[in-house]
Amino acid sequence: MKKVFLFAGLLLLLGCVFFLCKITAISGSEIINMDNKKVLVAYYSYTGNTEALAKKIQNMTNADLFEIVPKTPYSKDYNTVVAQAKEEKQKNYMPELVSNGDVTSYDIIFIGTPVWWYTMASPVKTFIANNNFDGKIIIPFCTHGGGGSSLTYSDIKKLAPHAKVLQGYEAYERSAKVDDIKNWIINLKF
Ligand SMILES: Cc1cc2nc3c(=O)[nH]c(=O)nc-3n(C[C@H](O)[C@H](O)[C@H](O)COP(=O)(O)O)c2cc1C
Repeated sequence: MKKVFLFAGLLLLLGCVFFLCKITAISGSEIINMDNKKVLVAYYSYTGNTEALAKKIQNMTNADLFEIVPKTPYSKDYNTVVAQAKEEKQKNYMPELVSNGDVTSYDIIFIGTPVWWYTMASPVKTFIANNNFDGKIIIPFCTHGGGGSSLTYSDIKKLAPHAKVLQGYEAYERSAKVDDIKNWIINLKF
């Protein structure tokens, strides 16, 4: 019996050491240790939900931030965008971006998107297609309106077949909780 308690205590201690190694307090806020890898958070957001999540992830990982911006802005009218996005998906249309960004110097790229018609938003398709992710680690995340990530992550894998795509995180609109996001990142194996 004594041995069982000792073993459980040891496991608890190891768990605490692991957790503390992963989180460092820098100037008052907690930064997750990303194994000294260079990290980028790239995101597209139409109504701001994915942007809010992207900025939380950026804060926690001390990463660089890149906003994916289509050259031709989408209409401010929601229904117009819903119809346009449906057509873009059917035609596999990839809209031109203000800048394609450059992932060359990064080891890990978080890619954030709203779910549009069960998959990533078209500007995110362009971003992935116009960058070389071979040998990189992609960590996807998305916000949705209740339907979940649907095909978003499997479609990202198809667009970047030579990247290692890790477990994604999804949240309903702006419901993402800081502790949940932190636990998700800490438990990723990269
Ligand atoms: C064009 C369009 C298509 C959408 N398709 C879906 C969908 O298939 N499933 C879903 O759950 N939500 C869908 N939504 C809702 C958005 O994914 C959700 O509101 C998301 O949080 C918006 O993120 P954003 O504020 O970063 O643009 C859609 C929204 C738009 C504008």
